[in-house]
Amino acid sequence: MERLDKLLASTGRWSRKDVKELVRQGRVTAAGRQVLRSEEKFELSDDIFVDGVAVCCQKFTWLMMNKPAGLLSATEDKRQKTVLDLLPEHYQKQGLFPVGRLDKDTEGLLLLTNDGDLAHRLLAPKSHVDKVYLARVTGRVEQTDVSAFAQGMVLDDGLECMPAGLEPLGDGSSCLVTLREGKFHQVKRMLAFRGKPVEYLKRLSMGPLKLDEALAPGQWRQLTAGELEALGRAELDGK
Ligand code: URA
Repeated sequence: MERLDKLLASTGRWSRKDVKELVRQGRVTAAGRQVLRSEEKFELSDDIFVDGVAVCCQKFTWLMMNKPAGLLSATEDKRQKTVLDLLPEHYQKQGLFPVGRLDKDTEGLLLLTNDGDLAHRLLAPKSHVDKVYLARVTGRVEQTDVSAFAQGMVLDDGLECMPAGLEPLGDGSSCLVTLREGKFHQVKRMLAFRGKPVEYLKRLSMGPLKLDEALAPGQWRQLTAGELEALGRAELDGK
């Protein structure tokens, strides 16, 4: 059980003082009835409404974004825009950060959260959370490249890459790459090493989460309860 003012303040949208005023004005209902005092306690699972609109009071926030090219996967930068700049202010106050990085010119699925523990565990290679990328390359991906990816590679610069999936699409100028790790520029470096430099890169999925095709580049939404559950399960399964 948690105090209503604390629950609502955790969304970043209202201060505890604001909540007191909302309650005084009779604008808050929780667990099916009007709330009379902002100190009243409710379960995290109770439905809470402000002006009839459902308010989510989960302990942590998880967002799925279709990252557009041209923004940094960082929380802040002195000179350049980051993915956090796309979010409204109340989310910016919640201490969200990207779960793993996509390069500035890479598009696609990016998770943002303030749940440091789960984010960290999802990114650990031992968690076996596969990341799938769509790449367009100069040249054609061939069967020899597929075998090299499957065996794992040591690149010219000494980078050791675990076995990875590579599936040519169509005439081979596009392909799907499946990685379990996430080293700096890894997809680009692996394909460049095979003589197929990347022209375009987009992340399609992370573990059980697929990029919502309804999200245009730059758009985002909260993860659904089902997606969150699947994410937690994926992390456990990988242990
Ligand atoms: N690999 C890359 O090379 N770039 C990304 O943004 C993600 C994976």
